[in-house]
Amino acid sequence: MTKVLFNTGLSESNAKKRDFILTACKKIKLTKDLDLLEVGIGNGRCGSFLANKFKSYDGFDPDEEYVELAKRSLSQSSKAKYVVGVAESIPFDKKYDVVLFAYSFHFTKFGKAWSEVINHLKDKGLVIVLEPDEFIKKWADPVLTEGAPEFDQKKLDLKKGQIRSAKQFLEIQPELKIIDSGSFDDTNYWILRK
Ligand SMILES: C[S@@+](CC[C@H](N)C(=O)[O-])C[C@H]1O[C@@H](n2cnc3c(N)ncnc32)[C@H](O)[C@@H]1O
Repeated sequence: MTKVLFNTGLSESNAKKRDFILTACKKIKLTKDLDLLEVGIGNGRCGSFLANKFKSYDGFDPDEEYVELAKRSLSQSSKAKYVVGVAESIPFDKKYDVVLFAYSFHFTKFGKAWSEVINHLKDKGLVIVLEPDEFIKKWADPVLTEGAPEFDQKKLDLKKGQIRSAKQFLEIQPELKIIDSGSFDDTNYWILRK
């Protein structure tokens, strides 16, 4: 396996992500009453520390190997339900209180993914988008980390372009209202409401 694996343990940085997401969700209801959809689950990092806080926790990723690893990381009592799929055609027939993109939005075809998200979001639902800051020094993927033997400048430039385009899209899309945005650690975030 050469793909990047994200730490699913409750490290300090994961605890910060968890607390940030839970605080945002509590603006609408107790999280135990909320249905959440995670777009682009990777190997299941967020579900490992969030799933059992919610009424339901559905997630998907286009990468079959990631979905398999994410499923394997779940405890028997986990509420998470994971399938293979893409944001441009959401593989669940359900509406959600919260849609979470954790570092995955810049990978998508924004326009198509956005209309899918809007169709799967309940009235007054939230979309939480976390994105990497383009000036991160140490990326999870060494290909993007200057000084690493695998470093590839073209891939870093491409990644920065995707991140900037995603940011522009989020800030001008007319469908959802941005109710909060800012940054913590190496993360930029947007919280949007229907
Ligand atoms: C940087 S990883 C983040 C994984 C996970 N959300 C986390 O924070 O640990 C981005 C994920 O987005 C997924 N992805 C790429 N294109 C996608 C698409 N069109 N729809 C949904 N997810 C996508 C990738 O396969 C990858 O697992």
